Amino acid sequence: MSIDYGADVLGNLADLVLRAPKAELHLHIEGTLEPEMAFEIARRNGVPLPFVGPREMRQAYTFHDLQSFLEIYYTAAAVLRTEDDFHDLAWAYLQRARADNVVRAEIFFDPQAHTSRGISFETVVRGLTRAIERARVELQMSAALIMCFLRHLTQREAFETLEQALPFRQHFIGVGLDSGERNNPPERFTEVFSRCRLLGLHAVAHAGEEGPAAFVSGALDALKVERIDHGVRCLEDRALVARLMRERIPLTVCPLSNIKLRVFEKLSRHNLPKLLAAGLRASVHSDDPAYFGGYVNDNLRSSLTALPLTRDDAHTLLRNSLESSFLETSQKAPHLERLEEMFAR
Ligand code: HPA
Ligand code: ZN
Repeated sequence: MSIDYGADVLGNLADLVLRAPKAELHLHIEGTLEPEMAFEIARRNGVPLPFVGPREMRQAYTFHDLQSFLEIYYTAAAVLRTEDDFHDLAWAYLQRARADNVVRAEIFFDPQAHTSRGISFETVVRGLTRAIERARVELQMSAALIMCFLRHLTQREAFETLEQALPFRQHFIGVGLDSGERNNPPERFTEVFSRCRLLGLHAVAHAGEEGPAAFVSGALDALKVERIDHGVRCLEDRALVARLMRERIPLTVCPLSNIKLRVFEKLSRHNLPKLLAAGLRASVHSDDPAYFGGYVNDNLRSSLTALPLTRDDAHTLLRNSLESSFLETSQKAPHLERLEEMFAR
């Protein structure tokens, strides 16, 4: 059941939400590779793609779970070979994000998806960093990188990746954990996260997307993460909900992703309103927008349409996105003030 706003009221609220400043905190840069760009880059690098063209590629985007998505995601990412490829990918994303009034983007990248194919860590990080610097100058937009370890690989491989990353320590602000959650509990990465935290890196992890609520607790206890990516299955554990609330742990929720990967049957069944009602610090993000049907404003617009979210809920989601970012308090303040101003009118 959704709240019966008149079309105008919903239209006005959606318009306000789309125009408002926001932070994108759950976005895999490889998941922004649109089929047209995949084919363009594949052509210039002379690498094959197992699709006839962009249209056929999009038609293959019917997923039954996380794993069936990841197979296509890693296949498409294999067209990326040069520093310019990574720059072009990130620059296209950052321009789209700016159009959605994203003022801060904390962007995941999967170095192991590239180093495993013989692409150097340096190639990846230099291309991405060049786009981020360009966005700062040309779009007045703040962005930073979070390096993810693939949880279907071993902790030893994560340590090897960290070694390769160390000469570029200044180019990323944190580490994350992604890829297939089933049978890959967070505790497998305890030592590498401990090392990363000693290096002063922020720590986040995907948990409670397909995996159980226990993986959310595990990410907090073993990895000492500051945010949980997804975390929607936390509602299965009351004590965990109480803890997430007490410790004010952000949950970076991706509604369209959850529908595409069948975490929820349809958007009107998503538990976002329940997360907010429980007092949890949820915000809305886009995960892999080229695959899941939209960027952050698409996620917000669809959620407002399909779910019983109030104006206060929308305001909270946007405020949470900014507050949960790793920006300095002083850098968050002007964005939060603008948000308050817009919602006060
Ligand atoms: N979940 C886990 N790993 C991922 C995802 C996701 O949605 N997207 C890219 N890597
Ligand atoms: Zn994700």
